[in-house]
Amino acid sequence: MRKVTIKDIYQHQIAQKYVRRSGMAHAISVAYHSFRLALQHNANPDWAAKAGFLHDIGHYEWYKDGEWDYQQYREFDIHPIKGAERAHKLLVRLGEDLQAAKEIAHAVLYHTDSALPEGQFKFNSLQKIVHLADEKDKKPGDQHHYSKMDAQKELALVEKLDQEIDRSLLKLGM
Ligand SMILES: [Fe+2]
Ligand SMILES: [Fe+2]
Repeated sequence: MRKVTIKDIYQHQIAQKYVRRSGMAHAISVAYHSFRLALQHNANPDWAAKAGFLHDIGHYEWYKDGEWDYQQYREFDIHPIKGAERAHKLLVRLGEDLQAAKEIAHAVLYHTDSALPEGQFKFNSLQKIVHLADEKDKKPGDQHHYSKMDAQKELALVEKLDQEIDRSLLKLGM
């Protein structure tokens, strides 16, 4: 039995503030991609869905004269670091299992290379999955951060994902 559902996370005000900032539709889509990839690659489907949902929770706004400044963003962004910390804090606050909270925070930290120094790294499967899931939902001109969905549809998709996770955990005997 899971201690925390995607719906618990989705409904929390921290997720509503920060996940929504970088796009709720993108977060839900990456959660679904991560969940399905986890089933294909024998990773924990619950952790994958949560990490997918939370992967961009560390985004902030790079505004210059009212416009998003991509150059500043590329040079100075640390959203995976901020995101790992925010995701961890939120999960622990919701009562998440501490091992799960740690693995999910690490997957958020490594979902993109902007937090990494140059060099070769060995990522675990959860970390690779969240990166791949994010890539799958990327759209030209960073439009994935702006796709919109109404709140009822968001909630319906979140509830459906929770049901799919519960079913798969039962099947896997987890
Ligand atoms: Fe990201
Ligand atoms: Fe993303």
